Amino acid sequence: MKGFIDLHCHVVPAVDDGVKTVEESVELCRGLRELGFTKVVTTPHIRTVMFPNTADGLRAAFERLMHELHELPGLPELGLGAEHYVDDVVLGWLAQGDGLEYPGGHCALVELPPRRFPLGLAQRFFQLRVRGLRPVLAHPERYAPLFKSTDALDPLLDAGALPLLDLMSLVGRYGRRPRRAAERMLEQGVYYGAASDAHRPKDLSKVAEGIERLEQLVGPEEARELLHDGPRNILAGSIDD
Ligand SMILES: [Fe+2]
Repeated sequence: MKGFIDLHCHVVPAVDDGVKTVEESVELCRGLRELGFTKVVTTPHIRTVMFPNTADGLRAAFERLMHELHELPGLPELGLGAEHYVDDVVLGWLAQGDGLEYPGGHCALVELPPRRFPLGLAQRFFQLRVRGLRPVLAHPERYAPLFKSTDALDPLLDAGALPLLDLMSLVGRYGRRPRRAAERMLEQGVYYGAASDAHRPKDLSKVAEGIERLEQLVGPEEARELLHDGPRNILAGSIDD
């Protein structure tokens, strides 16, 4: 049993750009289970204007999905978080306790605008941390400020951010620059975990290739740390500084 834990994917139907139907959700969840993920925390987008979801609305959609999946075989254990797109509004919700943190309530997944980091981001992360909420940073390798150098990540790491690799970055799903940035950051030991960011069943083959590539690049032991230990610690809130 591999026992991997996926902390970033989109398996709640019709709430964002992830799966559209319960059937697709079942196919994606089963596929992730076959790749070794025995626990999957789905992270629908919360993003003002584009995906105007609320924590309560997503909880209700997740409950409906769980009802549909009840007693179906071959599924991983499922949980709910959200991928919070960082702007003043959504960061404000997180700070007030109106976001949707990971199960356990210790950490929350955040994504950044792809081209430029918001001003004062490290301070905002630090404020969240003071309130007992650690930001887990989705796919840092996919942000332009980190394509050539990891320097811009340092203040965010100092503020407590936990970087989560997107496995599909390693096999060119988002192009050459994210792929290279991911390889560099793996070598630098920057990542705290790795996740699928799967949006649909056809992503599964790339996720499988990504796991294989990860094991090639860092070896099976470190790959397991990223696919199991780090995500487990995020859920348990047992993170060393
Ligand atoms: Fe995502």
